Amino acid sequence: MTIQLTDSPVPATGLDCLDPAYQRDPYPFYHWLLRHDPVHRGKDGTWYVTRYDDVRTAMSDKRFACANVRDHWEEMVGPGALKEVMRDTIFFEDDPQHGFLRSLISPAFKPKRMRAMEPQIRRVVDELLEPLVHRGEMDLVKDFAAPLALIFICELLGVPYEGHEKVRVWSLDIAPTLDLVPTEEEIRVGNIAMGEFSDYLAQLIAERPKGPSEDLIGVMLEALEEGKGGGERPLTLSAIISTIISVVFAGHDTVTNQVSNSILAFIHHPDQLHLLRQDPGRMPDAVSECLRYDSAVQSNSRRLTEDVELGGVTLPAGDFVVALMGAANRDPAEFPDPDRFDITRTSVHPMSFGAGMRYCLGAILGRLEIAAALERLIWLDDLRVTIPEEQFVYQRSSMFRGLASLPVAFTPVTDYPPRRK
Ligand code: HEM
Repeated sequence: MTIQLTDSPVPATGLDCLDPAYQRDPYPFYHWLLRHDPVHRGKDGTWYVTRYDDVRTAMSDKRFACANVRDHWEEMVGPGALKEVMRDTIFFEDDPQHGFLRSLISPAFKPKRMRAMEPQIRRVVDELLEPLVHRGEMDLVKDFAAPLALIFICELLGVPYEGHEKVRVWSLDIAPTLDLVPTEEEIRVGNIAMGEFSDYLAQLIAERPKGPSEDLIGVMLEALEEGKGGGERPLTLSAIISTIISVVFAGHDTVTNQVSNSILAFIHHPDQLHLLRQDPGRMPDAVSECLRYDSAVQSNSRRLTEDVELGGVTLPAGDFVVALMGAANRDPAEFPDPDRFDITRTSVHPMSFGAGMRYCLGAILGRLEIAAALERLIWLDDLRVTIPEEQFVYQRSSMFRGLASLPVAFTPVTDYPPRRK
């Protein structure tokens, strides 16, 4: 099929994820693709999938694999700590090893355990916000969303408070190497950070008191002691370290970005903010709508193990496929009037947490964090962004969507919490 690319944001050479216009605002690109070329061959030969049902297939069908993405990534980062440590990551595994690692860490994500964290999440939100709201201004990303995400990821893992700042820095230094095409400098810095992070975790594990513990590190160490296996390889200490670091990545930038994307959506839609203030019982639907409208995770990559037909196109074995969840979330066939931010939508199932056997294990925790943050932030009067949108700096990423910084101002609060009587 020949595609007419006139008036299209997508160049005739194919989609380029590094295009700054796409990074700033991918939605016009998604709409064009959904309408004209829903299974699209990008500039570098990668397939981009946009329709809700196709994205679900790409994220859950075993023929769209992850283990074979590893070789490509290892080639990109070359030898060093990044390659060594990430050799065992759950993100680059297929079954049976994926299923084994997932079943190993799942107990730490039990819904009951996550829900029991709710009062603690609310308390941390208050501890972070109380000193900020008197000032009448803050950087919503740096002062609030990022620390919130980090505290809970460390809590879940069992990393003590003194280690939080180090984990934050390592996490930021490693992130660029897990995405897009890292520069040589990013790889150099990422290798140093990965080496230090894994040494720190090895020491933390060695110094931990023995005995059962509910945190993720404890759960995995118990399995190691019991000699649990079941995947392709026996569990090792390095697999545990790799899994811990993977969970940090899975839950850090994601929550940070989703909290700031969500509040930004409310700032841009004061009618919806008003609605939520009037009826806070809408919070669960509001969180789903935030996830749908501007997801922190926009895409995930897979590689085909065999030829697959999708949307009438045959995708050859060995090709890379990017499932654009951000596009699926704006598919008009699934969500009527998809560009409208509308918290009165019900039964919304955004693609933002993925699908199938890799569905996000931290989805409950993530939702609770977003809800607890919104519960307080929506009551800040005259909440506004203090820089023009042209100055917004989105993270350079093919996978994540979020602002590096979001300066806001509001009427200073004297009585905390800021909720109106
Ligand atoms: C708004 C916040 C979040 C979003 C949007 C998100 C999104 C996702 C997505 C899309 C996947 C599937 C990846 C794939 O199919 O390749 C995933 C997997 C995962 N997420 Fe999340 N995530 C969030 C928060 C968290 C948190 C807070 C944690 C942990 C504390 C977490 C832990 C994980 C883990 C361990 C996996 C791997 C599951 C597997 O491979 O079986 N996520 N997440």
